[in-house]
Amino acid sequence: MRLEDKVSIITGAGSGMGRVAAIRFAAEGSRVIVADNQAEAADETVRQIRAAGGESYAARVDVSVEADARAMVDLAIEKYGQLDVLYNNAGIMPEADHSVVDTPVEAWDRVMAVNVRGVYLACKYAIPRMIERGSGSIINVSSFVAILGCSVPQDAYTASKGAVLALTRSLAVQFAPKGIRTNAILPGPVETPLLMEWLLKDEAAKSLRLARNPTGRFGKPEEVVAMAVYLASDESKWTNGASMVIDGGISVNYF
Ligand SMILES: NC(=O)c1ccc[n+]([C@@H]2O[C@H](COP(=O)([O-])OP(=O)(O)OC[C@H]3O[C@@H](n4cnc5c(N)ncnc54)[C@H](O)[C@@H]3O)[C@@H](O)[C@H]2O)c1
Repeated sequence: MRLEDKVSIITGAGSGMGRVAAIRFAAEGSRVIVADNQAEAADETVRQIRAAGGESYAARVDVSVEADARAMVDLAIEKYGQLDVLYNNAGIMPEADHSVVDTPVEAWDRVMAVNVRGVYLACKYAIPRMIERGSGSIINVSSFVAILGCSVPQDAYTASKGAVLALTRSLAVQFAPKGIRTNAILPGPVETPLLMEWLLKDEAAKSLRLARNPTGRFGKPEEVVAMAVYLASDESKWTNGASMVIDGGISVNYF
C-alpha cells in the first residue's frame, strides 16, 4: 500500500473529489481525517471508509474559520499522534460569482474566504506539526482556470485559484528545508457535484467546454485523485512546488 503509516487530513471530503480521495487514501493505508462543513456528508464518507476496513474520523470544519482549522489539526494529533499529509481540497464556486463587473462583494469575499483563507488557515496549524516530524506533504487544489482566461467568467474563483497556486510556490520554497513539500493540482473540468450542478443548468456552457477539450469528455474524480496519491506518498519526495495540470489537454489546445 502506497500510504501505509500515514495520517492525512482531506478538506471538503464530504463530496466530489475529496470523498473519492478519502476513500482511496484509506484503501492505500492512510488514516484519514475527513473534514467538511457538511457534517452528515463527512460522516457518510467515514462510514464508507470504515465499511471497507479503513481508519477515519469526521470533523465538521468550516475551513474559513480559524478555530475550526485549529481543531481539525488537533483532532489528527489527538486520534493518530501525527500529521503527514494536508490535502487542501475544499472549494466553492457560487453561481453569483461571474465577471468583476457584476459579482456582488459578498460573493467575492466568500469565495476568497473559503478558497484562499481556508488554505492559509489549514497550513497555519498543520505546518508546525509537520516541522516537528521533519516531514510532510501539502497538496493544494488549484484549477486550470488559474493559468487560462475563460470567456464564461467566474472571476472570484479564478483569482482565488491563482492565489492558491502562488501560495503553493511560496510554501514550497519556505518549508522544503524543513522536509515539507508543497504542490498544486490544477484539474480541468471534472464530473463532480460542484461542476455538474452548475453546468447542467446551462447546456451552452457545457458544449462550449467540451468543444475545447481534446479528449471530448470531462475528467473523472479518480483521474485527479491518482495524482494526489502520488503527491501524498513517499514516491514524490523530490516533487516540490510543482503545478500538476490534469485537464485532458485543454490548456495546450490551440484548435
Ligand atoms: N469539479 C471541477 O471541475 C473542478 C475543477 C478544478 C478544480 N476543482 C476544485 O477541486 C476541489 C473539489 O471540488 P469538487 O468538484 O470535488 O467539489 P464538491 O462541491 O463536490 O465538493 C466540495 C466539498 O467541499 C465542502 N466545502 C465547501 N465549503 C467548505 C468550507 N467552508 N469548509 C469545509 N468544507 C467545505 C463541501 O461541503 C463539499 O463537500 C475544489 O477546490 C474545486 O475548486 C474542481
